[in-house]
Amino acid sequence: MLESMARDVLVDLGERSYTIDIGLSLLANAGSTCSGLGLSGKCLIVSDSDVGERYGENLHTALSAAGIDARFVAVPSGENSKSHEQLLALYHAALEHGLDRSSFVVALGGGVVGDLAGYLAATYLRGIRYIQIPTTIVSMVDSAVGGKTGINMPEGKNLIGAFWQPHAVIADLETLATLPDREYRSGLAEVVKYGVIADAELFDRLEIQAADVLARDPGLLEEIVARSCEIKADVVRDDEREGGLRAILNYGHTVGHAIEKVASYGTFLHGEAIAVGMVFAAEVSARRVGLQAESVKRIRALLAAFGLPGTATGCAWSAVRETIRVDKKSVASNPRFVLAESIGRAQFGCEVEEKLLEEIWNGLGK
Ligand SMILES: NC(=O)c1ccc[n+]([C@@H]2O[C@H](COP(=O)([O-])OP(=O)(O)OC[C@H]3O[C@@H](n4cnc5c(N)ncnc54)[C@H](O)[C@@H]3O)[C@@H](O)[C@H]2O)c1
Ligand SMILES: [Zn+2]
Repeated sequence: MLESMARDVLVDLGERSYTIDIGLSLLANAGSTCSGLGLSGKCLIVSDSDVGERYGENLHTALSAAGIDARFVAVPSGENSKSHEQLLALYHAALEHGLDRSSFVVALGGGVVGDLAGYLAATYLRGIRYIQIPTTIVSMVDSAVGGKTGINMPEGKNLIGAFWQPHAVIADLETLATLPDREYRSGLAEVVKYGVIADAELFDRLEIQAADVLARDPGLLEEIVARSCEIKADVVRDDEREGGLRAILNYGHTVGHAIEKVASYGTFLHGEAIAVGMVFAAEVSARRVGLQAESVKRIRALLAAFGLPGTATGCAWSAVRETIRVDKKSVASNPRFVLAESIGRAQFGCEVEEKLLEEIWNGLGK
């Protein structure tokens, strides 16, 4: 029986601790899961048009069966919905449904829905509880865990937000069956990232079982999602508000974010851009912190096996460099890099001289 599979990962944050449930058929049981967590009364299910159409009714039925008075709202799918316009519409929906301080929000979807609905929960009546039900690889292994919520501004991504931890995360692996192939592969970039920064064994496993990963083998998915969540949970536990260690999760992201922007958002999916960023960081690591040439090769090969790019032809270094300069995470405009000493071990806050950065960028496709 499929139902026998399930695994829990604890995000240990004192009184803000919560569990990530990972397994199959979890959506259908979400009502009893919520009841078990002491969640009852009214809730607002926030989803997007694509995910809502597929799983909204299922979830609504499950919550209703547990006596929860759930109202369903869907925003258009896509990054543009992480906006103050959509947020305002959600506040109205929450008020109209009569959500009070004992009510809760459920985010059903990828990172867009999770960030938006999480921020709704963080700010509605000065903060109410919420549950994350992630349906993409990115959201299962990254955005649903750690409590970063927020919306975009015309001036840039994620500029308005709050740290607000969910009450629980329910990752039903069955939902991944309908995730478009490109989104799925893009999400795997984050899993590769966890291998590079913290877990050589995870990396080996992805290499050996790349074909099964791409075939979305449920048992294997459970393993790799759980391991990724454990790594993120450990980092978040030690540095909830990104004072230091949490920066390690940005491996490949300094350059990756810039590529997304320079190529104009949407050309590269996030995971595709950070795949290039990870190859770049691996090359820098080889020159600066002793990452072996063989390991650089393995990182390139694994990303390629997942159909992810290793170069961003068409993005000039000058444009990428300028974009990094204005990035909110740069320290006094000086980019700091996360570099890997070996697969499974990384350090953050590394400064790298300009000439080397440019040289490596220009050599990426060669
Ligand atoms: N809060 C954090 O810590 C954090 C971390 C990483 C990323 N993010 C944010 O997450 C967002 C990206 O998240 P994402 O990659 O999940 O994108 P997404 O939420 O846009 O989902 C990708 C696409 O897949 C569709 N989809 C989602 N689940 C599906 C399913 N099971 N079946 C069919 N279609 C499905 C969606 O409708 C959407 O079109 C960005 O806004 C990013 O800033 C936040
Ligand atoms: Zn990322």
